[in-house]
Amino acid sequence: MKIFLVWTLFLMRVMSTGGQAVTGPRQVTVQQGSSLTVSCSYKPRYKLNSKYWCRKNSLWSCLTYIIQTNGSEVTVTQDRVSIRDNHAANLFTVTLSSVTLGDAGQYSCGVKRKLRINWW
Ligand SMILES: *[C@@H]1O[C@H](CO)[C@@H](O)[C@H](O)[C@H]1NC(C)=O
Repeated sequence: MKIFLVWTLFLMRVMSTGGQAVTGPRQVTVQQGSSLTVSCSYKPRYKLNSKYWCRKNSLWSCLTYIIQTNGSEVTVTQDRVSIRDNHAANLFTVTLSSVTLGDAGQYSCGVKRKLRINWW
């Protein structure tokens, strides 16, 4: 059985700096039980920012922050999810393994702004 995971671009406040800070896929389809890999690219100026992945509950809000990097290229893994930043390619990759029906929903990837701690 196929599962639709809907991804949206997450811009929020970085939008005011002009242009899209992060871009990613609109929609992802994955077979139940298999794993999903999604890459989101970002503008070079956000290279050292923390990158995250969240599950959304409405157009703009993130309900659950699933995983994030600390701005380095160190791979972070939590349960079925991992995230890795690639500074040279200006993109970060999120992997979700053993996808279940409960994973269907809307997700976003984004960058956290610097100089603001805990703005989300
Ligand atoms: C990120 O975490 C790694 C591993 O814990 C650490 O070595 C690195 O210094 C951290 N980087 C930043 C920018 O905090």
